[in-house]
Amino acid sequence: MSNLLLVHQWTGYLVSVIVLMVAVIAFGRAKDSREFEPGLYRVTYALLILQVLVGLALYGLAGYWNAAPLVAYVHPLLAIAALGVGQALLGRARKTQMAADAHRLAGRGLVLSFVLVLAAIGAASVPV
Ligand code: HEM
Repeated sequence: MSNLLLVHQWTGYLVSVIVLMVAVIAFGRAKDSREFEPGLYRVTYALLILQVLVGLALYGLAGYWNAAPLVAYVHPLLAIAALGVGQALLGRARKTQMAADAHRLAGRGLVLSFVLVLAAIGAASVPV
């Protein structure tokens, strides 16, 4: 179990850095008015989905519903919100006509997602 926790913890830090980096890339693409292709954004959310799935496995296998509320409820809810908000904005970006606006919307979704992921990590890191 401690191995799964270690994997979830370190991939969690890695995924947050990736989300922030891709947000920066999205704003760069908006500036250059690059053609809108959602591939990189979709891969980023796929990584976040994997992270959530490993988190769910860890949660279920180790019975974390008995843990402190910040870990039992706040951390998972913020993490799932990060995924939902980001993907919703990517969905809107894909329906946007102008490529620059679409990249900008995708970038905003990633920034919001990043902030929520950081809040989720903060909630799980508070010593109880
Ligand atoms: C965006 C997705 C997520 C990220 C980036 C993430 C990241 C992390 C990180 C970095 C830690 C270690 C915190 C620390 O001790 O300093 C952690 C712990 C943990 N996470 Fe997640 N997590 C995510 C989603 C989830 C989800 C959806 C669940 C469960 C439904 C979950 C369950 C847990 C559990 C049970 C711990 C262990 C807490 C402890 O023992 O102190 N995580 N997570």
